Amino acid sequence: MPARHFTPVDRLLMDAQNALATVLGSAHAERRNPGDAQPDVVLEEDERRHAAGLMRVNHVGEVCAQALYAGQAAVARDDRTRTQLLAAAQEETDHLAWCAERLRELDSRPSLLNPLWYAGSYAIGVLAGLRGDGWNLGFVVETERQVEAHIADHLQSLPEADGRSRAILATMQADEARHADQAEAQGARSLPPPVPTLMAAASKLMKTVAYRI
Ligand SMILES: [Fe+2]
Ligand SMILES: [Fe+2]
Repeated sequence: MPARHFTPVDRLLMDAQNALATVLGSAHAERRNPGDAQPDVVLEEDERRHAAGLMRVNHVGEVCAQALYAGQAAVARDDRTRTQLLAAAQEETDHLAWCAERLRELDSRPSLLNPLWYAGSYAIGVLAGLRGDGWNLGFVVETERQVEAHIADHLQSLPEADGRSRAILATMQADEARHADQAEAQGARSLPPPVPTLMAAASKLMKTVAYRI
């Protein structure tokens, strides 16, 4: 059977469908939620609220990753790079779905600003993608390393009793480290200053806002 050829309009429609599923929190995981193996402990109210704030930040981080990879894939020149970006986005879909599930368990909700986070990250992804494939991979490395670092912070900060959120974050942390290593092995170029600093500043703003809204 010949490979299906997607026109630019097909791609735009697929991107729009992916964006809607991401923003509305209806993404489906392919792997089992790592939190399911942990007991569902009822947390103190202030602990529950803190855990929900952190998991909302993690959910937004995954919304941004989806958007960034979709934006980069939309303009990637090389088919191999595009395929690699879309494969990375698939594992991120598991993270997205697990964080959304945990937010529901914690009687909370995803960020109300998700459409905004998605649009901003998609635009950054397109800009990065237009600079060429070495840059694309460089962005993947930088994004994954930053996500990995903030997950490490959250693992310190989460209530001790919240084993479910902890199990989800531990799996995500290992996945993100692997994504960064793979992109590095494929010839990512390191991003020149001030790009990593700007990305860190944007992510700090996102974390502060998404913890609450
Ligand atoms: Fe992720
Ligand atoms: Fe990742």
